[in-house]
Amino acid sequence: MWGEAPQPQIGADEVLIRVYATAFNPADVSVRKGTYLEAGEAPIVLGLECAGVIEGVGENVAGWSLGDRVCALLNFGGYAELVAVPATMVLALPDHLSFEQGAALPEGLCTVWSNWLLGNDPSLVRTCLIHGGTGGVGSLAVQVAKFRGHTVFTTAGSHAGLEMTRRLGADHSISYRDQDFVAEVLMHTGGEGVDLIFDTQGASYFARNVQALKADGHLALIGIQGGTNTEVDLMQLLRKRVIVSATMLKSRPSYGPHSKSEIVRRVRDDLWSGVEAGVIMPQIGAVRDLKDAASVHAEFADGDLAPGKTVFRVQEEPSC
Ligand SMILES: NC(=O)c1ccc[n+]([C@@H]2O[C@H](COP(=O)([O-])OP(=O)(O)OC[C@H]3O[C@@H](n4cnc5c(N)ncnc54)[C@H](OP(=O)(O)O)[C@@H]3O)[C@@H](O)[C@H]2O)c1
Repeated sequence: MWGEAPQPQIGADEVLIRVYATAFNPADVSVRKGTYLEAGEAPIVLGLECAGVIEGVGENVAGWSLGDRVCALLNFGGYAELVAVPATMVLALPDHLSFEQGAALPEGLCTVWSNWLLGNDPSLVRTCLIHGGTGGVGSLAVQVAKFRGHTVFTTAGSHAGLEMTRRLGADHSISYRDQDFVAEVLMHTGGEGVDLIFDTQGASYFARNVQALKADGHLALIGIQGGTNTEVDLMQLLRKRVIVSATMLKSRPSYGPHSKSEIVRRVRDDLWSGVEAGVIMPQIGAVRDLKDAASVHAEFADGDLAPGKTVFRVQEEPSC
């Protein structure tokens, strides 16, 4: 439903962003279906990330000025012309990136990096398997892994998708339709498996992911596209001393330990130089007008979205 909303009021620690682009996330569809929010949560304006220009600065905020080009992780609100956001959840948009590109970064990079940090010391990771390397999150995960010098295995469903992941730098692109990713990983790692698996599938891949992990490896679960319930032989996890982490970015608070602000800070400190250097680039599948959002949601449900991230143009940028 589209409508007029009151202008967001910024708190002392927040900035107001004029939104030029936001991005589609699968969670937007879950919210519309009513399966994402906690029972009793108020209706919200969709949109978990955005890019635009700072138009208001709270009295406690240092480091941001009116007119700054930024992108931001949001607690919803990106499908609107203006959004108020904690200043600590904002990142400076490099000049070489458009607003559409900027809007495709915060949710994916924060998801990737927060999960990476939950396993063993990230500097010990040498090899990883990233499921869905063509997706909004997966395509960033592949680039983050290469930025950090890892050997990357990734899965994709189509010939074009496999090609895309190779272009992003994946060392081993595996068809999840025609190949057995466990066999491929074990064959190319001398039977050892990988240090880290970044998984969007959940139940359908759980047991096979454990097989493809190295001893002391980390299985980072970020999605449940393959279901929520599975049976697992826990002895396999014990024997391999597997770390399993499962996280949802949205359920984190804005401030404090383990918060969105903390994750944005780590993304800025650890990964943003890769974005500034153009080594980590958002992969845009399509740019659509925000008024087409309902069609985009339907296309997602039918599996018809182009590989990469679908972003929305929210309003015209003023011409200079
Ligand atoms: N936990 C969190 O905080 C968090 C945050 C953001 C997103 N997520 C979740 O992460 C998942 C991915 O999000 P996204 O924005 O990247 O979605 P997306 O852009 O729609 O990408 C979905 C990906 O899944 C791949 N895929 C489909 N079936 C697969 C299979 N059987 N094996 C391996 N890959 C398969 C697709 O590959 P092909 O296109 O090659 O078929 C595509 O790359 C979603 O479930 C989303 O809800 C979680």
